Amino acid sequence: MKFNALRDLLFLLPTETSHHLSLQSVSWLEQMNLSPLIAKPRVEDPVELMGIHFPNRVGLAAGLDKDAAHIRGLAALGFGFIEVGTVTPLAQPGNAKPRLFRLAPEKAIINRMGFNNDGVAALIRRVNRAKFDGVLGINIGKNKLTPMENTLDDYVACLQKVYRHATYVTINISSPNTKDLRSLQHGDELSALLEGIKTSHQQLAEQHGRHVPLVVKIAPDMDADEIRSVCQQLLAFEIDGVIVSNTTVSRQEIEGARYSEETGGLSGAPLLAKSNLALQAVVGEVKGKIAVIGVGGIMTGADAAEKIRLGADLVQIYTGFIYEGPPLIESAALAISRQVASPN
Ligand code: FNR
Repeated sequence: MKFNALRDLLFLLPTETSHHLSLQSVSWLEQMNLSPLIAKPRVEDPVELMGIHFPNRVGLAAGLDKDAAHIRGLAALGFGFIEVGTVTPLAQPGNAKPRLFRLAPEKAIINRMGFNNDGVAALIRRVNRAKFDGVLGINIGKNKLTPMENTLDDYVACLQKVYRHATYVTINISSPNTKDLRSLQHGDELSALLEGIKTSHQQLAEQHGRHVPLVVKIAPDMDADEIRSVCQQLLAFEIDGVIVSNTTVSRQEIEGARYSEETGGLSGAPLLAKSNLALQAVVGEVKGKIAVIGVGGIMTGADAAEKIRLGADLVQIYTGFIYEGPPLIESAALAISRQVASPN
């Protein structure tokens, strides 16, 4: 069956039901060695970055496989790397449903999931069971019930637990769906957090004899000054990379659309321009010094190549994968490979 026909059927189901069914199917196909039925072989276009060998530059963004339950199935679709999470120290249910809205005409999603996940111990059990030998990012966050003044404890608890299992670790301080989380992106709150995380990171690196790169994921809803100040701190604390960007709280691009009034983060096509602006600003501040991962609104191969042209080293996809399916992974990787071969 063509992907579009399958997608249209799945879209008839409630959003979270189709989400789980699709991911489960991806895992079943991999277990039966049938992933080639829905995806082309991975595009081999390797790159070394942060001391990591990436088979290609197209990754799965965080939030689709929050509990690391489908790593192998997703990797079999051709991604060069998989980011799981956001995971928190303790399991938590997330926000009340409905909390996931598909804006099909706009090729967008609004979500206010609120870090629903089974907790870091369960995630590690699944990562162990998967015996995955590809590039695995683990994205960490704080529990909703942890008071803001104890935020660092949550990040450190997660970092300590995931360190041995991750190829890189993402510090998520940009989800709009956990109260006050995004205030961690600014000023003293950011420096206190990064300092604490780096102290723990150095101890872990010594203990394990291995440096696991740390990357920080930021929101697109910052002005140039705010981006400059975040970037200066990332450089000062020797963070290895930055992911630009998470979802946006802006509704400018979708005024009047169905669900546009729903609270949460907007992703997909309407995020492209905004996340690209943030990407350009970040690249202007850090390019060459730390890795930059471009995310937000990639719906075509050309969108992916454009992020690379703007200075991203890698890209990630979420919403585009929901709407366009596995063919987007291949077309993004091929377009990027052409862009890298002949930059303009
Ligand atoms: C996300 N995203 C996300 N990001 C993150 O760091 N932790 C998370 O748990 C989640 N959860 C999540 C759930 C849903 C339903 C969506 C749609 C998105 C954000 C995601 O990783 C990505 O940064 C944005 O969606 C922008 O990229 P796309 O979707 O436009 O390709």
